[in-house]
Amino acid sequence: MPSPLPYQAPAADARDSIAVKGLAKVYGAGADRVEALGGIDLTIPRGAFVTLFGPSGCGKSTLLRILAGLEEKSAGAVTLFGQTPETAARAKNIAWVPQSSALLPWLTIRDNVLLSRRLNRRADRDPACVSRPEDADQVLRELGLADFAHHRPAALSGGMRQRAAIARGFVQGAPLMLMDEPFSALDELTRDALRLRLLEVWERHRKTVVFVTHSAAEAVLLSDRVVVMTPRPGRIEAVIDIDLPRPRGRDAADSPAFDARVRAVKDTLRRGWEGEE
Ligand SMILES: Nc1ncnc2c1ncn2[C@@H]1O[C@H](COP(=O)(O)OP(=O)(O)OP(=O)(O)O)[C@@H](O)[C@H]1O
Ligand SMILES: [Mg+2]
Repeated sequence: MPSPLPYQAPAADARDSIAVKGLAKVYGAGADRVEALGGIDLTIPRGAFVTLFGPSGCGKSTLLRILAGLEEKSAGAVTLFGQTPETAARAKNIAWVPQSSALLPWLTIRDNVLLSRRLNRRADRDPACVSRPEDADQVLRELGLADFAHHRPAALSGGMRQRAAIARGFVQGAPLMLMDEPFSALDELTRDALRLRLLEVWERHRKTVVFVTHSAAEAVLLSDRVVVMTPRPGRIEAVIDIDLPRPRGRDAADSPAFDARVRAVKDTLRRGWEGEE
């Protein structure tokens, strides 16, 4: 059996950011060919909260799956703090929060949240592993789930299950969290509450987050940067810095400055989209 290549520590400057250069992704061939992503260049500094925003089909999930090491790229280069997505995924340095909570129904919430840590044991011995698991009970408390730790997922509401999925991500202690529309299946009130809860917990842990949403207001509330994407092929129209003060709480969305940024994000998308037609 061929021995694995020795692990090489990344260069110091590459360790502090996610770097995407000239990334392209093509699905299928001939009449079925879809250029899902073309010419994507993006740098995300460590600790930033970055949102991918754009219409259906612009390649947000494809980009996220490539970052997660779940999808192969067609061209370009991607490094996550100096590691390839495949190395980072194998070493459990990436926490994935899906659209539906994907909790195991036969385990309690606490055991679900701890699962990543159990699965991590093997990854812990991988020299590429930089995840530092967090205290599950503490994170469950932060997400308001302490009283439900010993319940099974079926006994929880959709919003609570999604909170548990977020807790599982934080407990894994990975430096990078990828969230693909984690609130899209929830009602508006639950969504509002969960955004604020996510912000509170993120302020404490300061992981790098790449978050996908269709909502401009959600993107602005959460992010340091909003990456506005347009379709066919999926590309980046602009990256908009959201320089609103943090921490952002209940009142953060009640200011003219907030509204102006939401407008800027929407106008950028409209310009990019109309420009194509
Ligand atoms: N496995 C696949 N095979 C073929 N084409 C695909 C596949 N996955 C995505 N695509 C195509 O790639 C393009 C981008 O899809 P992607 O799912 O990344 O978009 P998205 O921005 O996440 O959309 P949505 O907001 O609807 O989730 C679309 O045209 C889609 O049809
Ligand atoms: Mg998607």
